[in-house]
Amino acid sequence: MSFSSYFSEQARKPEGLFGRLVMSSVFNIGNARLNRLVYEMMSIRANDRIIEIGFGTGRLIDRMARRLDGGSVVGIDFSKTMVSLAERRNRAHIRNGRVRLIQGDFIDVPLEKGYYDKACSVNTVYFWDRPDLAAKRVAELLKPRGRFVVGFEDAGQLKKRKLEDGVFRLYSVQEIEGLLFEAGFRNGIEAGSRGSGSSVVNCVVALK
Ligand SMILES: C[S@@+](CC[C@H](N)C(=O)[O-])C[C@H]1O[C@@H](n2cnc3c(N)ncnc32)[C@H](O)[C@@H]1O
Repeated sequence: MSFSSYFSEQARKPEGLFGRLVMSSVFNIGNARLNRLVYEMMSIRANDRIIEIGFGTGRLIDRMARRLDGGSVVGIDFSKTMVSLAERRNRAHIRNGRVRLIQGDFIDVPLEKGYYDKACSVNTVYFWDRPDLAAKRVAELLKPRGRFVVGFEDAGQLKKRKLEDGVFRLYSVQEIEGLLFEAGFRNGIEAGSRGSGSSVVNCVVALK
């Protein structure tokens, strides 16, 4: 297996020592700006019920949970390695019931429909086998007018990193907007980008 396939697979599902030591730093440092943008776009209110899909090391969950008073965050990630790192970071929130972390594939983890105010997913959309079904699932879980914030890197920029095509599916902002509209987000879709040159991060905010 080439390093590029190994790295791409680890980005999709970090495992073992490489996942725990290398990928966690890649996520914490390399994804920090995009996570900050998504955090801002979530416009968290104290009593929000939130879902994060593919939380990685759990930094965004920690940040969102600190804003809550009465609200809660459920995180879903299928990597055992990431779940254990995120559990450590969010131990106090888990103990006081503000955060629940679930290890599993987002597409089939049982969650209550029409219950959540907001959902987000950062740098994870590339790995969805059936993006149409995943986006519909998020729409189903949200309340009417619920908000879904999708953060992802610019496709042109990711192409230059020689990631494995079979693992990473790259999207333009327009493609994500179309995907969310088709999934039932019909009350407004807007996009925001941050950065310039070879470092652009994108975020699409959609209302059900
Ligand atoms: C590239 S990392 C991004 C992590 C974090 N959101 C960030 O921005 O740093 C992708 C994460 O999504 C998780 N993931 C990918 N597909 C998933 C799925 N279908 N269900 C649950 N977790 C998934 C991976 O285990 C990994 O932790």
